Amino acid sequence: MADTDDIRDGKSFGLDTPASTEGFYLKGLNNTDWGLKNRLSRIFNKKSGNTVMLAFDHGFLMGPTSGLERIDLNIAPLAEEADCLMGTRGMLRSSIPATCTKPVCLRTDTGTTILTEMNNNVLISEIEAINMNASAMAAMLSVGEKETEHITIANFSRLVDIGMKYGIPVMGVTAVGKDMARDARYFGMASRVCAENGASIVKTYYTEGFEKVVAACPVPVVIAGGKKLPELEALELCYNAIQCGASGVDMGRNVFQSEAPLAMMKAVKGVVHDGLKPAEGFDLFETLSK
Ligand code: R5P
Repeated sequence: MADTDDIRDGKSFGLDTPASTEGFYLKGLNNTDWGLKNRLSRIFNKKSGNTVMLAFDHGFLMGPTSGLERIDLNIAPLAEEADCLMGTRGMLRSSIPATCTKPVCLRTDTGTTILTEMNNNVLISEIEAINMNASAMAAMLSVGEKETEHITIANFSRLVDIGMKYGIPVMGVTAVGKDMARDARYFGMASRVCAENGASIVKTYYTEGFEKVVAACPVPVVIAGGKKLPELEALELCYNAIQCGASGVDMGRNVFQSEAPLAMMKAVKGVVHDGLKPAEGFDLFETLSK
């Protein structure tokens, strides 16, 4: 039984200090629940407001693509440098040590590969997301394909229902139809559709006019890196996106296909968190990769 004979009256009520009414540090997310904000706070650096997510979910569409042949050898050593790990349950379970406490953004849709028609995905069980201690869940939302647009939007919307139930943020992975221009108009539209359907984070591609994509998306936008570029160009991409208001990157190939992935991770972090110019980031890359 608890002691009941020494119950002391409280004295420190801080009567001169009003309770804080400060808002949340990420845009558009002030009216969400504590659990959701707490998970987002694990992903986004509180000082810069940005994140460097390491994306290695490519294999569920592409198989063992270059740089991802062995997740245990290629990705696990980079994990401590990432702000968040974005991968599938199979690769996380098999190849990332469970002792790694970096937040996970779990790829939560699956269904087809690049060998057939894409975007016919279904969602995996939310029990898996909870089991994997996911700090966020990610699913594709693809606009502009008559056959699959409605499937991806319905998946996405259902995933947000689940996320809201358990306080797990959902990241929209935008895609546009194969015949559509990969420009600000269509990526802007896909991003906005994600936000309209309740995304807490939107991942899209940097394009000309990207500031309009970010402005019209009321929640944080991160960019995918896309195809491997020379390191300086990849750092310019990160820098330009941040200048346009992006809240970071969810980058894969430009890190794990680099000659020096760890050096590249650190250089990307320098640009995303510390305001390094692309040339400064590249100097850092060169120094660290020697
Ligand atoms: C695409 O569906 C995947 O979600 C990748 O995670 C995404 O494209 C980011 O990887 P990368 O920087 O290689 O484009």
